Amino acid sequence: MAIAALSIFSNSPSSSSSSSSSTTTFHPYPSNPSHSLQPTTFSPPLQTQPSFSLLTKSHPPNNYFSHFRFRPSIHSFFRCRSSSNAPNVDVQFGTLISLFQEIGISFEETKLLLLKSNELTSIQLDSLRDRVLSLHSLGLDRVSINHFVTNRLTVLTTNEIDPLLSFLRNELHGQLAQAKLKRLLLSNEPKNLSAFPQKVRLLVDRGMPVDKIVGVLNKVNLSKAICNRSINEIERIINFLEPFGGVNLIVKNPAILNHCLDSKLIPRISVLTKLSGGDEDGIRIVLNRFPFILNYTVEHVEEHLQFLRSFADLDDEQIFKIVLVFPAIFTNNIERKLRPRIQFLKECGLDSENIFKFLIQAPLFLSASFRDNLAYKLVFLVKIGYKYRTKGLAMAIAASTRISCENMQKVLSLFLNYGFSFEDIFAMSMKQPLILRYNHASVETKMKYLIEEMNRDIRELLDFPAFLGYKFDDRIKHRYEIEKGLKGGQISLNQLLTVSSENFTDKQKKDSSVKSELK
Ligand SMILES: *[C@@H]1O[C@H](CO)[C@@H](O)[C@H](O)[C@H]1NC(C)=O
Ligand SMILES: *[C@@H]1O[C@H](CO)[C@@H](O)[C@H](O)[C@H]1NC(C)=O
Ligand SMILES: *[C@@H]1O[C@H](CO)[C@@H](O)[C@H](O)[C@H]1NC(C)=O
Ligand SMILES: *[C@@H]1O[C@H](CO)[C@@H](O)[C@H](O)[C@H]1NC(C)=O
Ligand SMILES: *[C@@H]1O[C@H](CO)[C@@H](O)[C@H](O)[C@H]1NC(C)=O
Repeated sequence: MAIAALSIFSNSPSSSSSSSSSTTTFHPYPSNPSHSLQPTTFSPPLQTQPSFSLLTKSHPPNNYFSHFRFRPSIHSFFRCRSSSNAPNVDVQFGTLISLFQEIGISFEETKLLLLKSNELTSIQLDSLRDRVLSLHSLGLDRVSINHFVTNRLTVLTTNEIDPLLSFLRNELHGQLAQAKLKRLLLSNEPKNLSAFPQKVRLLVDRGMPVDKIVGVLNKVNLSKAICNRSINEIERIINFLEPFGGVNLIVKNPAILNHCLDSKLIPRISVLTKLSGGDEDGIRIVLNRFPFILNYTVEHVEEHLQFLRSFADLDDEQIFKIVLVFPAIFTNNIERKLRPRIQFLKECGLDSENIFKFLIQAPLFLSASFRDNLAYKLVFLVKIGYKYRTKGLAMAIAASTRISCENMQKVLSLFLNYGFSFEDIFAMSMKQPLILRYNHASVETKMKYLIEEMNRDIRELLDFPAFLGYKFDDRIKHRYEIEKGLKGGQISLNQLLTVSSENFTDKQKKDSSVKSELK
C-alpha cells in the first residue's frame, strides 16, 4: 500500500516503468466503473495528462517511511489516535504522509491535519488517492490540491462531489477553465456542488447546444449562477427568458445567469415590457443586441426614459423604437450627452417628430464624442455653407454620423480638387445628404470613370449627385457599357441609373430588337 502511494506521484517515467506492477503505473482513471464514459458527451475527448511530473518535485526514497514507522514518537501518536492494530495503521499513516508529501504538505502539517480533521482519519486511503488523481486529471496542479487540503479538505474527503468530478471529466472533458474549477471547488459547500451536473444538464435539455456549455460555464460566476440556485430556480430563469430567446440568449450572453431572477431580471425586463406595450419580439431584439442593458438598474433606465419623454417630448412608442435601433442609449449620461445633443437638435428647429426621425436615422449622434468627432464635422459643414441652427445642418450631421472625420475631409478635398466650390458641395449635399458619407476612394473611382470613360462633364453631378452612391461595377459600369452599345445619343445620368433593373433589362431588349429590325 505504501509503495503504491509512493508511485502515484512518480515523476520519472523510468522509475514508474521500471516497476511492472499495475498499481505503480499511473493511470488517470484506474478501475472505478463510475468513471466510464457516459452516453452524452459534451465535447471532444479529454486529452490525457502527459505525465504527473507537475506534482512531484522530489521523490522520497523508497525506504523513507520505514524510518518513520519505527520511530517511537509516531508510534505513540498513532496509538492514541486509533486502537486498531498498530503496524497496519502505521502503513496507512505512511501512505497518507507520502500522499500529502507529494502535494507539498509536510509531515508536521499532516500530523496537525489528522488531529483537526476527523474525515482524514476515517477516510479510505485508496479513495483519497483516487480523488487526488481525479483532481489532477482535471488539470489541477499540486499547488491547487494543496490549497484544497488546507482550505477545503472536503474536496478531498467527501463523496458528495463525486458526481461533479465525473461529470467534469466525462461530459465536459476537463474543459472547464482551471481558475473556474478551483474557485468552484473552493468556494462552495459539497452539498451545493452535488447537483451541479443535473443543473447543467437542464440547460442542455432546454436546448442549449452541447458544444456551447463549456463556453457558458466558463463565463458565469458558477457559485452564484449554478451552485447557489436550486434546479427549480434555474428552470424558472429559463422559462422567464423563453420569449426573449431562452437558452440562446444565455449562450450569447452567459453573464445574464449571474443576475438574480427576482431582484434583477424580472424588474429590469419589465421596464422594457411596459415601455414597448408588451412587445416581446422587440425586447428579444434589444436583449440580443445589447444584453448589457440588464446591467442597468430600473432607476437608471427610468431616468433616461423620463428625460426623453419630458425633454424631447417623445412618447413611449417612439422611445422604444429608438431603443430598438440604439439600445446602448442607456450608456449615455443624461447631462453630459443626451441633454446637450437634444438641445442642439431643438435649436436646429427640430420638433419632437423630427427629433424622433433624426434619432432613428442617426442614433450614434447621441454618443459620438463632441471634441473628437462632432465638432470637426460641424466645422466642415459650416464651411461648406450650412447655417447654424438650421434643419439642414441637423440633417447633414445625421448623414455624417457614421463616417469618420477623416473620410469626410477626404471627400470634401476630392470635390474641391475636381473644381467644385463649397457652394456646389453644399447644393449637392442638400439634394443628396448621403454624399457626405460616401467612402472617399469609391467617390474618386466614380468621378474618374465619369470623366475618363463616360466622357461626361463632372458638373453633371450637380444635377444628379446620387450618381456617386450607385454601385460601381454592378450598376454604373454595367449600365454604361450596355447603353454605350445601343444608343447614339446620351441619356441623363439620372435616366441611366434610376430605372429598376427589371425595366432596364426590358427596355434594353426592346432597344436591341428595334436595332436589329432596323438593320
Ligand atoms: C461570484 O459570486 C459570489 C456571490 O455573489 C461572489 O462572492 C464572488 O466574488 C463572485 N465571484 C466572481 C469571480 O465574481
Ligand atoms: C446564495 O443565495 C442566498 C439567497 O438565496 C444569498 O443570501 C447568499 O448570499 C448567496 N450566496 C452566494 C455565495 O451567492
Ligand atoms: C447552497 O444553496 C442553497 C440553495 O440551493 C442556498 O440557499 C445556500 O445559500 C447555498 N450555500 C452557499 C454557501 O452558497
Ligand atoms: C455588465 O455586467 C457584467 C456582470 O454581470 C459584466 O461582466 C459586464 O462587464 C458589464 N457590462 C457593462 C457594459 O457594464
Ligand atoms: C417599370 O416601369 C413601369 C412603367 O414605366 C413602372 O410603372 C414600374 O413601376 C417600373 N417598375 C419598377 C420595378 O420600377
